[in-house]
Amino acid sequence: MYTSRPAIDHGRCTLCGRCVLICESKNLAIREKTLHVLDDCSVCGHCYAVCEAEAISFETLRPRVFKSFPYDGAYFPPGSPDPTLVAGLIGSRRSVRHYSAKVPSTDMLDDLLECASMAPSAHNEQQWEFVVVRDGTLITKLSGRLLEYYGGLNRLVRRAFMRRLAGLFMGKKVERYYRDHYAGIERRVKTGAAGRDQFFHGAPVLIVVHSAMDGNSPVENAQYAAYNICLLAHAMGLGTCFIGYASYLLNMDRAWKKRLGIPAAHGVHAVLTLGYPAKAFTMAAPRKEYSVRRLG
Ligand SMILES: Cc1cc2nc3c(=O)[nH]c(=O)nc-3n(C[C@H](O)[C@H](O)[C@H](O)COP(=O)(O)O)c2cc1C
Repeated sequence: MYTSRPAIDHGRCTLCGRCVLICESKNLAIREKTLHVLDDCSVCGHCYAVCEAEAISFETLRPRVFKSFPYDGAYFPPGSPDPTLVAGLIGSRRSVRHYSAKVPSTDMLDDLLECASMAPSAHNEQQWEFVVVRDGTLITKLSGRLLEYYGGLNRLVRRAFMRRLAGLFMGKKVERYYRDHYAGIERRVKTGAAGRDQFFHGAPVLIVVHSAMDGNSPVENAQYAAYNICLLAHAMGLGTCFIGYASYLLNMDRAWKKRLGIPAAHGVHAVLTLGYPAKAFTMAAPRKEYSVRRLG
């Protein structure tokens, strides 16, 4: 996390006090008709964003730039974005498992990461880091490693006796793996023998989201960032899919982490496939019933 503090242009400051009210860390105060910054802060930028006099700035904040579509820094006040569009976008994002060979441009990839960095994060730490893989050979090799790993796991849990034995050390997740994943992995092992990618759905790009684990809520932060990528990708005509099989493996496989340039101590929080969908869905999917308790 980098910390800093806002710079105040006292010539512009009208002492309206809106920044004082909005500051989550109570870091601003008006004393003797002057706005004071009391300490370094997490650079959330809320004070900057409420200041109509444009008297507040942060040296460490970079301007937001998108390159593959027009964007003028527009801010939509509550109630102004069309909820039909927003709900429609959220409902229309689907996991895409068929990709064309066309590779998204570097500008598009940069824009997706820019949008990822707009996600909320605990204490505004923004400690997510990304690896963008556009090397098809590397993607196929990683897919092969997944096949090797999960194929081995399948051989281990095939017999009920072995599942019970492994369960003594690993708990219920062994039976859960057998129930939820065994059959699908068996099918992949069979078709994967021909050397075809079995896990990344033929996507031309992977985005890996990782981070140090010593911050506040690093897993959640990184996953919110990953989901931002999924939503914007859909709007840009691209498809994504979370690949949990790959996140799980990368968190254990130091050699592959090193190969991707991910520090050994980092957690891998999301692996996304990315590319142009080869097949379009025609409607949003319905969802299961959810449980809710309404209090009050
Ligand atoms: C954490 C997580 C892990 C996932 N792992 C995989 C995966 O390894 N392979 C895959 O094809 N889909 C994976 N998915 C996609 C889910 O299967 C998908 O989100 C779900 O079926 C709902 O479909 P939808 O995303 O199209 O709405 C994963 C999704 C999440 C959130």
